[in-house]
Amino acid sequence: MLATNTVARYGSVAKSFHWIVALGMIANIALGLWGERLPQSTEAEIALKSTVFSIHKTLGLTVFAVAILRVIWALTQPKPAPLHPERRAETFAADAAHWLLYGSIILIPLTGWGYHAATEGFAPIWWPFGQDLPFIPNSPEVARIFGTLHYLFNIVLWVTLALHILGALKHHFFDRDATLARMLPGRTEAAAEGEGHGHVAPAFAALAVWAVVLGGAGVAGWFAPEAEAGGTELEEVASDWTVEDGTLAIVVVQNGSEVEGQFADWTADITFEQQDEPGIWGDVRVEIAVGSLTLGSVTSQAKGSDFLAAEEHPRAVFEADLVKVSDEYEAQGTLTIKDQTVPVTMPFSLRIEDDVADMSGRLTLDRRNYGVGENMQDEGQLAFDVEVRVQLTARRSQEAE
Ligand code: HEM
Ligand code: HEM
Repeated sequence: MLATNTVARYGSVAKSFHWIVALGMIANIALGLWGERLPQSTEAEIALKSTVFSIHKTLGLTVFAVAILRVIWALTQPKPAPLHPERRAETFAADAAHWLLYGSIILIPLTGWGYHAATEGFAPIWWPFGQDLPFIPNSPEVARIFGTLHYLFNIVLWVTLALHILGALKHHFFDRDATLARMLPGRTEAAAEGEGHGHVAPAFAALAVWAVVLGGAGVAGWFAPEAEAGGTELEEVASDWTVEDGTLAIVVVQNGSEVEGQFADWTADITFEQQDEPGIWGDVRVEIAVGSLTLGSVTSQAKGSDFLAAEEHPRAVFEADLVKVSDEYEAQGTLTIKDQTVPVTMPFSLRIEDDVADMSGRLTLDRRNYGVGENMQDEGQLAFDVEVRVQLTARRSQEAE
């Protein structure tokens, strides 16, 4: 049977595993690098990018499954002996490279999977499993760590692979030995007298390479959370009520699941006198820096020109009267997004105690009123309704008393 390895040859199983995994890995490097560079401001661009990454992830998990079988198989097999065992440094380097390559085919898909599981919403895996992983929370910090690991393990792979391929070509064209032929289809057998492979030392060398690369990146701060993008742009406003704390969140439904995001930078100018009877007792003007939105893994898509177009329309403005209607309050006014001004009413609850006001309100918008995602008419992909959730604590300014 030629299926198994001997000390003089790779068997057909090892060869098939080698080339299937090699092709899959190289294809996925190309897909990953290409996908990273694809722009994502129009819907067509986002659709292409999402498809490329879905292929990347689906193929990557397939390669991962084959890689696990490959490793199990390799553990049961003898490793064909080097053809020039007297070149000890070369043999050592080749063995260390094989450890790095075996590690890469496990660690790269695993970290990619971790990244995917820690983010939400973009480019699903097409297998019927694996959208989430146990113990991996949805969180930008966790995603950043996995994304950085995925990238670093890739860099190690690229360097190792370049040396691996150059080594194979060197054996073939300069040494004119059967090292490459032994890995190609056919019945090549070749063996040399002398010692075989070292096991432990090359494995430690591979571990040391990863440790140095990850450690170096750690020192350089690659794993640290990204600084708040751009900080605040909006000038503070003088207001009768100063917002001390608050969130301005939106919830969109993408591919059937909710994705929540927040605007980090917004200001509110509020005038309000509480009265018991119904009437207009104040007004509010909220200005929102559209570019300060974070929305899971679709943040940059959401700010692209087909959606919120943050560059062309950097501000959204909500202007409203604060009205008491029976027991409840309403903010009745207009919301302007992308220069489209649409009347809106937001019911809100209010509690004022010792000059500190707590309010919270919700409002559902139809994104089509603002030309957001106009060409995306499929509600299954992106629902028309977008919920806005406001919650804030404001203190009455001294001058206003
Ligand atoms: C054009 C690309 C490639 C060429 C020409 C090539 C060639 C070879 C050759 C000739 C060997 C046998 C070495 C020996 O007998 O000592 C080998 C082994 C190996 N290759 Fe590749 N390879 C390529 C791509 C890859 C890729 C992409 C990976 C994984 C990411 C990979 C992983 C390995 C591993 C782990 C071994 C050791 C197998 C074992 O001894 O168990 N190779 N390769
Ligand atoms: C199997 C071999 C794989 C290879 C060789 C590979 C390679 C790459 C490369 C070269 C990139 C672009 C560089 C970067 O920003 O990191 C990338 C990005 C990415 N890969 Fe993979 N990958 C593999 C598997 C996977 C798997 C299984 C998943 C998820 C299930 C995945 C998810 C991702 C994601 C989400 C990105 C974008 C990362 C970001 O935006 O920072 N990859 N991959």
